[in-house]
Amino acid sequence: GASRPRLSFLGTGYLGATYAICFAELGYEVLGFDVDEAKIAKLAGGQVPFHEPGLDELLRANLAAGRLRFTTSYQEVADFADVHFICVGTPQRGDGMGADLTYVETSVTNLARHLTRRALIVGKSTVPVGTAEWVEQLVAKHTDPQLQIEVAWSPEFLQEGFAVEDVLRPNRIVVGVKTDWANGMLYAAHKGVFDLAATEDREVPLVVTDFATAELVKVAANAFLATKISFINAMAEVCEVAGGDVTQLAKAIGYDPRIGNRFLQAGVGFGGGCLPKDIRAFQARAQELGAGEALRFLHEVDLVNLRRRGRVMQLAAELLGRRSGPAGPDLSGTRIAVLGAAFKPNSDDVRDSPSLAIAATLAKAGADVRVYDPQGMENARAAQPGLSYVATMAEAVTDAELVCVLTEWAEFRNADPQAMGELVAQRLVIDGRNCLDAALWARAGWQYRGMGRPHPQA
Ligand code: UDX
Repeated sequence: GASRPRLSFLGTGYLGATYAICFAELGYEVLGFDVDEAKIAKLAGGQVPFHEPGLDELLRANLAAGRLRFTTSYQEVADFADVHFICVGTPQRGDGMGADLTYVETSVTNLARHLTRRALIVGKSTVPVGTAEWVEQLVAKHTDPQLQIEVAWSPEFLQEGFAVEDVLRPNRIVVGVKTDWANGMLYAAHKGVFDLAATEDREVPLVVTDFATAELVKVAANAFLATKISFINAMAEVCEVAGGDVTQLAKAIGYDPRIGNRFLQAGVGFGGGCLPKDIRAFQARAQELGAGEALRFLHEVDLVNLRRRGRVMQLAAELLGRRSGPAGPDLSGTRIAVLGAAFKPNSDDVRDSPSLAIAATLAKAGADVRVYDPQGMENARAAQPGLSYVATMAEAVTDAELVCVLTEWAEFRNADPQAMGELVAQRLVIDGRNCLDAALWARAGWQYRGMGRPHPQA
């Protein structure tokens, strides 16, 4: 019934698994579905197949409570749930721009074919605007109209590392609906979130929109965040030639509440499974719709972001006294420690990671590169098998002629420059995230180079 609808989540990747587990925690009866048998076996056995703080405990507690189950059967999902959330991946297409909707098409079609009772199908995956309408047509094609299956869209805003909080205590819920029935079902499906907020004296704003707006909210939010990061990185570029300090600049502009101080950390730029691919897919879609000009600035956002990787190469060549040719610097014969492979700290995710990309470029320029990351080693090895990986920070920096800190893990931020100085061949450091205490490192005899900040004097 509509008071406590039963929920399914199709696609138990990062998004779907987190949602399935957290909604069980909120008291819903939940079924998670995936075509990947190994993934489902792991989850059913109480193991989260990726790294996300707090999720393992919730998975086990809710399996034990009997509110949460997993399956690879479309029929079981179709029979079970009142509301089906589509959480499958929408990877970048082969052409490097648009989104690949194959998984959305497959999961929706198969689910629809197995439905025998009224249900709401809710898209959660990040998709090009217009997808919800297309999904609605797909559903109509594969279901009996008497069943009155409806479609809605409800984007998510999970940040890796904070995903459990982001689901249980979101800063807003957005639903794109066409009918009161869909609206009511979605409200019931989120009542657990509103109730939790009420007990904590908070309010979760609910924004009800049409399909197109709901789809756009997600990509607009990510485009804004990417733009904010590239804005401050563009300021870093200017600081580098003008002799300013972008970290102080960010602090100063961030005090204006209209600007805000978050997401103004200059560094090697944004990566991960969302921001880079989403801004490209958004541009491709706008182009298709004839509004390409409106998003042309996102192309610049992308370029600024990628130029920061080149800046590290330039600094490396400078510090190591190598000349840069048209094909970049020749770093052969040098030994470089790369600290960080994950696209951000507290994550094992290396998708589109600036750190790993820079490590690969340094290696390609001839350097003997040793990479260390506290969590991301396994994924890094799979993504960049050609690089040399070591098990500890100490091992990475031993005999290194240059240390590059490219992901701001606490282990690197808190590293003792004096102790590390004993291990390296020479004290040269590039702080790709402006996360080290520049003065402290300079006092310990290091030549320090940050991003968009002047060189400290020892
Ligand atoms: C992002 C969005 O934040 C989230 O709302 C959306 O649902 C998915 O995409 P996520 O990919 O987990 O989440 O990472 P996020 O914390 O946003 O960081 C993205 C990248 O930007 C990282 O590589 C990070 O290092 C970089 N970043 C972030 C900066 O370079 N500077 C900043 O100030 C903030």
